[in-house]
Formats: sequence, C-alpha cells, structure tokens
Amino acid sequence: MFKSDETAIQMSLFPDHPRQKMDFRNVLSPEAYSGLASFHKYWGKKPVESFSFVIEQLTNEGDVVADPFIGSGLIAREALDLGRRFIGIDINPFSIELTKLFLQLPSHSSYLNALKILEQELKPIIDESYTVNDDRIGSHYLWENEKLVSVWVRNGGRSREILTPTASDLFMAEKYSSYQPQKLRHIKFFTNSRINASPLLTLNDIFTGRALRNIELILGNIEKQSNPQVKRALLLTLTSASGQMSNMVFAIKNRNKNGGKPARNTNSIEVGSWVIGFWRPECHFEINAWNCFENRARKLLCALKTVEEKPRYRFTEKGKDFWADNTSALLVNNDCRTVLAEVPANSISLICTDPPHSDRIPYLELSELWNAILGLDTDFENEIVVSNARERDKSKKEYNRDMGEFFRISERCLKPNGCIALFFNARDSESWEYIRALEQSTQNLSYVGCFPMAYSATSVVQDNRKGGLKSDYILFFVKQGHQSCFSFEHFNKFPNWSNSLPER
Ligand SMILES: C[S@@+](CC[C@H](N)C(=O)[O-])C[C@H]1O[C@@H](n2cnc3c(N)ncnc32)[C@H](O)[C@@H]1O
Repeated sequence: MFKSDETAIQMSLFPDHPRQKMDFRNVLSPEAYSGLASFHKYWGKKPVESFSFVIEQLTNEGDVVADPFIGSGLIAREALDLGRRFIGIDINPFSIELTKLFLQLPSHSSYLNALKILEQELKPIIDESYTVNDDRIGSHYLWENEKLVSVWVRNGGRSREILTPTASDLFMAEKYSSYQPQKLRHIKFFTNSRINASPLLTLNDIFTGRALRNIELILGNIEKQSNPQVKRALLLTLTSASGQMSNMVFAIKNRNKNGGKPARNTNSIEVGSWVIGFWRPECHFEINAWNCFENRARKLLCALKTVEEKPRYRFTEKGKDFWADNTSALLVNNDCRTVLAEVPANSISLICTDPPHSDRIPYLELSELWNAILGLDTDFENEIVVSNARERDKSKKEYNRDMGEFFRISERCLKPNGCIALFFNARDSESWEYIRALEQSTQNLSYVGCFPMAYSATSVVQDNRKGGLKSDYILFFVKQGHQSCFSFEHFNKFPNWSNSLPER
C-alpha cells in the first residue's frame, strides 16, 4: 500500500550536503549505487564519482561537456550540478528517456499521488487474476517447465505460506494463457545465442499471458497521466519492473546456505532475478505483476524524497536551440556521429564518454524489451557494437572503423586543448586497433595517458563470461592547441597512472 508518509532511504547521487570536490580516492573506491543511481539496471553503468572527477579536473563552470554514448544518463545530472552545459547522445531511445527523468524529476508528492490512484484503480483488478482458492492473493508461482509446482501467498509482513496448486490456480493461469498483447509493440530479435535471443522470440515466450495482460493494464492507466514528468517516471518504473514480471526469474535451489547441498523442499527455494539475456530457466518464478511494479515504485519514491529541493534542468532535443540560447542540456536520440557532425567546430571542452566496448554488451538487443514497453523504435543499423548475431554484420572490423570515425568527428568539435576522456577496456587486442591508429587517423589528437577505473561494489557485472574483464581504464586524449591550458602533470600522481597504452 502506498501511504503518504513513505520514508526516505539514503541515496548518494544527489546528496543534500554541499558537494565537495571529488578526490582521486572517490574514484578508486566509489560508493555502491543507491537512490536514483540504483533505480534502473542499465547495462554497463559506470560510477558517477569517476565522471565527476574527470569533469572537475578538466573543465570550468559554463564549459560544454559531452557524452555521446550516455547510457544510463547518470553523468548528465552530475555535469549540470557542477555548472557545466551538457550534450548527451545515445542511439538507444531508452537511454535518453532515462536521462530526461534524471534532469526533470517529478516531485515526490505528484509521483506518490499518481501511484495511489493507480493502486486504487488497478490493484484489485490485477490481484483478481492471482486469487487463490480462499480469496488470498498469490505473490509467487513456481513453475517447472510447463507445470505449476507451488503457489506462495503472503501471511502478513514478510512471512509466506507455500500452497500446493489447486484446480482453481490452474484455471486462473490457463484463463489468460492465450492473451495477445495489444499495446506493446512487436519485439525484434536477432539470432544471438549469447543472450538466448532469436527472431522467433515473442513477448508470449518471455511472459505468461497473465503477466502480459497485467502489464498492459498498467500501461493503459499510465497513458492517461497528464503530468509528463510523472508519466515518464511511471513508464520507466514499469520497464524497471518488467524483468521480475517475466518468466526469466530464476528459482535458486542450491544456495550454499545448505552447506552446498541442493534444497530438499520448495521451502528453501529462493527467488532469483532476471539476468543479462533472455534465458527462461526450466524452474522459474512468475511473480505477481502488481507487486513487482510496487517494489520498483517504492525505490523511486524513496529516492525522490531526498531530492525534493533539487532543480529541474531544462533540456532541448534541437542542436540549434542549444547553441542559440542558454538551455542547460541537449539530449538527442541518434547515432552520435550524425549529431556531432552538426555541432559547431571548436565548441566542446570535454568529451567524457564510455563507448560500447566491442563485444561486451549488445545494448540495443538487450534493451528491446524496455523499448517495446515504451513503444520506442530502435536504429539497430547504426549501433556501434560487436554482436554475435550474424544477420547484423557487426564484426570487430566494422567496430574499429566506426570508432575511428567517431574520433575524427569528435576532434573537429573539440576546442583547442579540449580533451577526450575515454572509459575503455576490451578483452582482445583487435578491439584496441582504432586507439592504436588514432595518432595517424586524426590530425591533432595526442594520447596523454591512462589510469584504471574501479567499479562500484554493486555495478552490474560487465562481462560474466570466462576471462571477462571487471575493470576499465580511463584514457586521455588532447586536441593540441597553440598553448596548453591544462597541465596533465597531476595525473602522474595517480596510482597506476601510465603514459603508455595498456598492453593488449
Ligand atoms: C558502455 S554504454 C554507456 C554506459 C554509460 N557510461 C553509463 O554509465 O550508463 C555504451 C552506450 O553506447 C550506445 N551506443 C552504441 N552505438 C551508438 C551510436 N552509434 N551512437 C550513440 N550511442 C551509441 C549504447 O546504446 C550504450 O548505451
């Protein structure tokens, strides 16, 4: 139940106390993500400490900072809070929506009021689809392949009762089984075994009919919302909850709590979570869709309470408006090479960015579910990435070509003495080729050096394959001007600073 006194939890992205300058120690041991920074699980999220540190070291208030591969958008609010103007670009429309949320947060009270209305209008209808025999409401359904094994109900508080499914539970599950989505757009997948996707995969494979029906009920109600900030927050809450609403939630049977032995009965089965990809484990949970939505909404509510006093930043999606007036931010959903090609020459002080790292994460393929819920179209063609999906033709050769082009276009936009701070690490030597070639392929860009960047303890694992990398470097490049304004000498003091490229 949403109550008016929803309490706040600690959050670190926008602290209440006046902010102190970032110190290199913050970069070495970033805080765990909390509050707004933990609201959504965008893949490849980087700690805000390292972005802030680089921005503070290399720019002054009023300067233009750009992140052409903005991802989760966490850097945008940091740059604006530091008094910089900001350009954020991403080919993923979902990223731009998330960034807009961070720049224009709804007030805690308006979001809470909207949730209360949703709860009043929808919870009884959604709960009805999870009613068990004695009129209690099912919270979790444990499935083994196509067989319903148990139904969990809450006994008040956190305790639960595990019930053997009855004919009525089977009837309720069956009742919606042929539900076909009407509001959600069709999802487009490629043949990618790494994330268990195929062109034949449909929303009906990922969700039960009951979950799809309930997701569409929530979506339909959100669409009636007239406050744009609240509407965006609710839609993103729904996307954030969608993984837990799906058939992709693992049932953890053999957690080490048992001394390594598999659990003997369903009492000791734990609820896992959706992991990277579209894996539908044989033994999985179907969770009450309203509960999933409510859990994510509470997370955002808590975060909003602590940022009530923070400003809303104006943004524009049109470059000419950004350059013509003093709008704080330009946010564009497009291929960054197209957008940067239209930026005035010598106008950006710092490009601080974390681009796709070759074949580490196929962002658009993974975001397809969220974009389908938001009804947003995606430009797979111009994504810079290496994908296992053969039909996409995204190999390391194209990747090097595209990243080289990105650097050439960026060089033109940078002011003399402007910098590129590139967060990067790829597993193989071939994916570093464009970096090794930069001094030849660009006119005035020089490599300065790099240092290793640490992830937050709660970062989503970057690469869970064997031999996957768990850390990045921040590599610095400067556009040579006639006179150097920035001294890179202090970088030499950083632990593990190196003037050479990392060996790959
Ligand atoms: C490593 S992620 C950025 C993560 C971000 N630093 C964060 O902290 O959340 C790389 C991003 O590049 C985006 N991308 C890929 N190709 C692009 C292109 N051609 N133009 C703009 N963005 C692109 C992906 O959608 C993805 O969001």
